[in-house]
Amino acid sequence: MKYLLLILLTATLMSCSGGRNSTGYSLINDMMYSETYEAFSTNPVFYDGQTMQPPPAGTIARGHMPQPMTADGQPVVQENPYAMTEYTWKRGELLFQRTCSHCHGAQGQGDGKVVTEGGFPAPPKFRSRTFKYSKRDSYPAGEIFNVITYGKGNMASHAQNLYPEDRWYVAEYVREKLMTRGKK
Ligand code: HEC
Repeated sequence: MKYLLLILLTATLMSCSGGRNSTGYSLINDMMYSETYEAFSTNPVFYDGQTMQPPPAGTIARGHMPQPMTADGQPVVQENPYAMTEYTWKRGELLFQRTCSHCHGAQGQGDGKVVTEGGFPAPPKFRSRTFKYSKRDSYPAGEIFNVITYGKGNMASHAQNLYPEDRWYVAEYVREKLMTRGKK
């Protein structure tokens, strides 16, 4: 009994040695020093040697709605699935001013600083009639949504900058307030 107490006491004291910052002795090291790989590094574990793995074929990320495509691989022009409210109009405006106006200009006149001072090719004025949709009010929000998502000509995709929901709000704002002639 005495020895048992002594052993227990020794073990207890030993486990305290080294102060708070010491992790003490480690007997099984595998979990202590696990191998970690940087996202873009090579990896001996996976068959293709990459740490970042593509999602399994045919799977869809949770919360992600895939864009319907035509048979020849073009994005379908969809209807806005989100209701527009006072808040979402404001949000569309705010996000346009933050993500687009430095090129398109605050009023969509193609005179943002990136163009006037940076020399970036000027985008068409949103109120001009040079778009393929010539009739008044006819540029669909779904087409603007696709331009934001996939880019067009000199404009790169802005899908990384805006969530799909926000792209719709920006698209609605651009169509309704900046493209439609006469209206503000
Ligand atoms: C880096 C500058 C830049 C930014 C930022 C930018 N655009 Fe553009 N955008 C352009 C240019 C340049 C074009 C003309 C593309 C072409 O036809 O070569 C264009 C074209 C467009 C068009 C017209 C496409 C057509 O039918 O001809 C729309 C709509 C549009 N942009 C919307 C947006 C929206 C909405 C945003 C913000 C999410 C945005 N752009 C951000 C430069 C920009």
